[in-house]
Amino acid sequence: MLELKDLTFSAPDTESKKSDAVKVIIDKFNFTFEKGKFYAITGPNGSGKTTLAKLIMGINKTASGTITLDGKDITGLSITERAKAGIAYSFQNPARFKGTTFRDLLSIAAKTDDEKKLFEIISRVGLCSLDFLDKPVDSKLSGGEIKKVELATTIALNPKFAIYDEPDTGIDLWTIDPMVKLLKREQKEQGTTTLIVSHNKAFLEAADVLLLIREGKIAYQGDLQGALPILNDLSLCNFSDAFKGEYDVRCYR
Ligand SMILES: Nc1ncnc2c1ncn2[C@@H]1O[C@H](COP(=O)(O)OP(=O)(O)OP(=O)(O)O)[C@@H](O)[C@H]1O
Ligand SMILES: [Mg+2]
Repeated sequence: MLELKDLTFSAPDTESKKSDAVKVIIDKFNFTFEKGKFYAITGPNGSGKTTLAKLIMGINKTASGTITLDGKDITGLSITERAKAGIAYSFQNPARFKGTTFRDLLSIAAKTDDEKKLFEIISRVGLCSLDFLDKPVDSKLSGGEIKKVELATTIALNPKFAIYDEPDTGIDLWTIDPMVKLLKREQKEQGTTTLIVSHNKAFLEAADVLLLIREGKIAYQGDLQGALPILNDLSLCNFSDAFKGEYDVRCYR
């Protein structure tokens, strides 16, 4: 169980004229992720989803509030300590490493360089072919390929709590459903508490609980059906009256 209590993150407000102004990005956020459940977080661009995910992993430092994992306060722990405690994070924009192959990353994650075990992981993940193994994870890898590498590496860690930030970005259409099935299977068979940040309906439908975030707060929690009215409202970038000369440019956050 991972519990967020009054979690807050703020950053310097560069748009303000005041040099000491700050903007609150995550605002007294309260939520409990129950063990072994599948969560999806969605919300408009810039609403704070990645910031929240990075707070849980310790990449962003909490301004105030607490994070508790299985009853232990981990608010002050570093990224490495949180990783050791079983939290894993799959980046929205994964890093590329010159001179490093997928095999290297997978071996570190799985703590083995045994060929058979690495093949087993690749088969379990199913999204990357075996000839991926010796591909360098550098700038030549395509956008979708690097996301598959990132996802496979996170799964290989066998985390207790796995965070995937937009795992479907750049992924071809016919891989999305297998990806949803794969992450659901990991949840069920490995008992992984799974948190997916996504705009994709396939992930939102698959979630046990869907969280809709707006301006750093929970605007809705429940299932996709219940969220639809709010999502439809949020989709407003309403230029419908433009031809009448009345602009209603409401791009909500
Ligand atoms: N360290 C930071 N310093 C200043 N501003 C930040 C910082 N981190 C995030 N922000 C701002 O906070 C807001 C939320 O960013 P975040 O990346 O969490 O959005 P998001 O919900 O993940 O959006 P998207 O759907 O586009 O990925 C954005 O306006 C972003 O510019
Ligand atoms: Mg994001």
